[in-house]
Amino acid sequence: DNVSLWGGRFAGGPSPELQALSQSTHFDWALAGYDITGSRAHARVLHRAGLLDDAGLEGMLDALERLRADVESGDFLPVIGDEDVHTALERGLIERAGAELGGKLRAGRSRNDQIATLVRMYLRDNARTVARHVLDVVDALVVQAQAAGNAVMPGRTHLQHAQPVLLAHHLLAHAWPLLRDVDRLVDWDVRAARSPYGSGALAGSSLGLDPAAVAADLGFDGPVENSIDGTAARDVVAEFAFVAAMIGIDLSRLSEEIILWNTKEFGFVRLDDSWSTGSSIMPQKKNPDIAELARGKSGRLVGDLTGLLTTLKGLPLAYNRDLQEDKEPVFDQVSTLTVLLPAFAGMVRTLTFDTDRMAELAPQGFSLATDVAEWLVRSGVPFRVAHEVSGACVRVCEQRGIELWDLSDADLAAISEHLTPQVRTVLTVEGSVASRDAVGGTAPARVAEQLEEAREKSAEF
Ligand code: ARG
Repeated sequence: DNVSLWGGRFAGGPSPELQALSQSTHFDWALAGYDITGSRAHARVLHRAGLLDDAGLEGMLDALERLRADVESGDFLPVIGDEDVHTALERGLIERAGAELGGKLRAGRSRNDQIATLVRMYLRDNARTVARHVLDVVDALVVQAQAAGNAVMPGRTHLQHAQPVLLAHHLLAHAWPLLRDVDRLVDWDVRAARSPYGSGALAGSSLGLDPAAVAADLGFDGPVENSIDGTAARDVVAEFAFVAAMIGIDLSRLSEEIILWNTKEFGFVRLDDSWSTGSSIMPQKKNPDIAELARGKSGRLVGDLTGLLTTLKGLPLAYNRDLQEDKEPVFDQVSTLTVLLPAFAGMVRTLTFDTDRMAELAPQGFSLATDVAEWLVRSGVPFRVAHEVSGACVRVCEQRGIELWDLSDADLAAISEHLTPQVRTVLTVEGSVASRDAVGGTAPARVAEQLEEAREKSAEF
């Protein structure tokens, strides 16, 4: 059959069952534009190597541009019998340039180096888009942190009240991991910016074609160092998949808090109507669906990473057809994140915090017990003793159902001679947060600096 890429050796075409299994155009068609760009660069190195004359190059580039227009308009589509995007586009090229000229383009390249290059081109473009969307979420957090001013909240460990913190401090604690994710994408790009084009099937090209020229043409920093590695490696794809999964996890952790904060029991936050959903039966409901979908989709993003790593495990060098399975997981991650992140940013940007409620709860649950111990340390009591004394205060309060500041002067003196009424100066949330004034701490002055740093960091990208 005339469209087969390997007609010579085979007596007949593939069985319909093999064709159905083998076909990848339903997903790799997303790479069509990159394939055509790659083919243009390849035509130029063929020309430079004397394998295509001036008229040939011009005819080839013209046919490729016509093909691109037809792909973009939807006039040219893959058909049954096109195994993958490369097969389909070769058919399209031959239809436009004729078999004589169109048949020349395949010299010195293989679908193995092609696909390895195209997936990098696709991911490099989409990593930029994903990073921009992540930065929008960071911006929403920074804006909320700014608006929160010196509002306080109960800081938690083990989901129990631990120490009071600024709401802004807590919100920024979600911004930094996302900024590191963007950093990871930038850093990843250094490794992704090597072009496998010219690796051929695995051993490199023999026709005097220059991989460096193709690499430069396609916006890469240079060609891969090793043609076997160039066609067989997918660590660059897997590393992207990890960062995408990590973004999902970072969103999921914030989601879980928003879902909790939005309950009647917490009552810390209200969701904007346009960024929450109702119930079909319960008229009173307002549900945090964006946060729940983010939490749910994080499972899917991790699944994509896990599936890909499992596909790669145990694969011998060089190309194996298993590698066709590298694309759907990362395509899925890209489409998942590009839908999820804008909704997520909108939800965060429109949250309304009940700062009175948070301030009321901030000192409860004995969250100032550490401040009592540290006050004792400042007056010379060893921390081991101070910890015991403060713990004894908590025990008394718990027995009586009161808070630390409800203890009378006599109660304090009965617990320890070191506990003078002066200790009350640290039994306020404001005093507690202000005292944590080392770099990275929750003191208002430090948080204001941190806010500035987060702003500067996100402006770097
Ligand atoms: N469609 C394949 C992939 O996505 C590329 C083709 C390589 N096929 C081959 N038989 N060498 O990986």
